[in-house]
Amino acid sequence: DNMLNGNLKLALQKNGRLTEKSLNLLKSCDIDIEEYSARLIVTARNYNLDILLLRDDDIPEYVMDGVADIGIVGEDVLYEKKANVDVVRKLGYGKCKLSLAIPESQTLEDLSELNGKRIATSFPNILKSYLTQNNINATVVEISGSVEIAPSLGVADYICDLVSTGNTLKFNKLKKSFDIFSSQAVLIANKNIENDPDKKSQLDNLLVRIDSALTARK
Ligand code: PRP
Ligand code: ZN
Ligand code: MG
Repeated sequence: DNMLNGNLKLALQKNGRLTEKSLNLLKSCDIDIEEYSARLIVTARNYNLDILLLRDDDIPEYVMDGVADIGIVGEDVLYEKKANVDVVRKLGYGKCKLSLAIPESQTLEDLSELNGKRIATSFPNILKSYLTQNNINATVVEISGSVEIAPSLGVADYICDLVSTGNTLKFNKLKKSFDIFSSQAVLIANKNIENDPDKKSQLDNLLVRIDSALTARK
C-alpha cells in the first residue's frame, strides 16, 4: 500500500477516546482492517480504503488540505481548529462535554466569578469565544495536553477540558462546573471531493455502509 493507490484515505485518531469506537464502526461496515499496532497507515483487506492514524488535533487540517480525503474527529477539535471541511455525518458516539472544572475544595456558583482567573485549556478558541459571549475577563492559558494537572502546578486556577466519564477529573481532584460545548464524533470530508467523481463515488459507497451500520444501532 502507498499514498498513490487511488484509495479513499480516512484519518482516524491514533490513540484516544475515538479510536476503538471508530474501528468498531468500520467493522460494522464489514470493512476488515489489518492489525495496525505501530503503523500509521493501514489498508483495509476487503475495501479500497487507507486508514491514516493521526493525532486527533491534526485531523481537521489534514482533511482540509486533502492529505486525507475524510476523517473522524470530535466536534470539539473540529470547531477549535476552525477547519473549512464538510461535516458529512454525525456519528452518535464519542459524546462528551467541554466543561469548566475547578478544584474539588472550591465552589463556582456564578460565571462572573471567572473574572480575573486563569483557565488552562487545549481549546483556546472555543473558550475565548465563550468568555467573550458571557462578558468574562479571564486569562486563557493554552496547554497542549495534561491540562488537568495545571491547577495543582499553580499554572492556572481552573481548567476547561473534555469530560466523558469524569474519571480524569476525579483522579486529579477536580470537579465539573459549567458546560461550554457538547461534542460527538463526526465524519468530515475535504471540500474538493464534490468535484472529484471518483472520490465522490467512493465516499458515497462508504456512506451507504455507514448509514446502514448507524441505523442498525438504533
Ligand atoms: C480527553 C480529555 C481528558 C479525557 C477525559 O482527552 O483531555 O484527558 O478525555 O475523559 P474522561 O472524563 O472519560 O476521563 P482525549 O481522549 O480527547 O485525548 P487527547 O486529549 O489526547 O486528544
Ligand atoms: Zn487531542
Ligand atoms: Mg486528553
